[in-house]
Amino acid sequence: MDQLIDEYILDHISPEPKLLKQLNRNTNAQHLYGRMCSGHLQGRILKMLTTMIKPRRILELGSFTGYSALCFAEGLDKDGHIDTIEIDDEIAEVAQEWFDKSSDGYKITLHIGDALNTIPTLQGEYDLVFIDANKRIYSEYLEVVYPKLKTGGYIFVDNTLWDGKVLDPEAVDAQSSGIKNFNNSIVNDSRFETVIFPLRDGLTIMRKL
Ligand SMILES: C[S@@+](CC[C@H](N)C(=O)[O-])C[C@H]1O[C@@H](n2cnc3c(N)ncnc32)[C@H](O)[C@@H]1O
Repeated sequence: MDQLIDEYILDHISPEPKLLKQLNRNTNAQHLYGRMCSGHLQGRILKMLTTMIKPRRILELGSFTGYSALCFAEGLDKDGHIDTIEIDDEIAEVAQEWFDKSSDGYKITLHIGDALNTIPTLQGEYDLVFIDANKRIYSEYLEVVYPKLKTGGYIFVDNTLWDGKVLDPEAVDAQSSGIKNFNNSIVNDSRFETVIFPLRDGLTIMRKL
């Protein structure tokens, strides 16, 4: 049933742009963890939310092959910009090739390095931050991006339901624990208004108060 509903949804939303379709297909065929790629539904939602929020500057933690950065870039105005950070230089090279193929690629700057070290070197404030890098340290990312985010700005955090493992007390591996700790810490964090979209693997949306 879930799979049929997923197929139904994909058949009844805006189609995946041709370049993104190729990127999605190549990522799943050539990379071990291809499902990390945001994909058709989440990608269209990221683009739609970007169009609604109208951010001028976006910061992304975890580029992978570049799919989500291209969706954000598509939703940005012509003078909008996204900085995306990727720790794996081989994957970053792949992402840059796709950015170069895209008509929105000029809006994207790819930084190779550890997000925790790179973020403090970036100048200025952001309107939207997408946290999608190392699940083990989501809470650390939140503190590093907080001073860079404008008041009223948004943080999107991916995979916050972690395949349902957030409900499993026996899921104590580093990634599950990182996500559970993050979810537990933000629930009483008065710096933000927070919701979880039960989309794909869980997408938390936070607004800085
Ligand atoms: C889930 S994937 C990102 C998927 C991509 N945002 C998308 O939706 O298509 C996570 C990426 O974060 C990268 N990563 C992990 N730890 C990182 C860190 N400390 N700094 C920057 N990137 C990191 C990984 O190498 C991987 O490519």
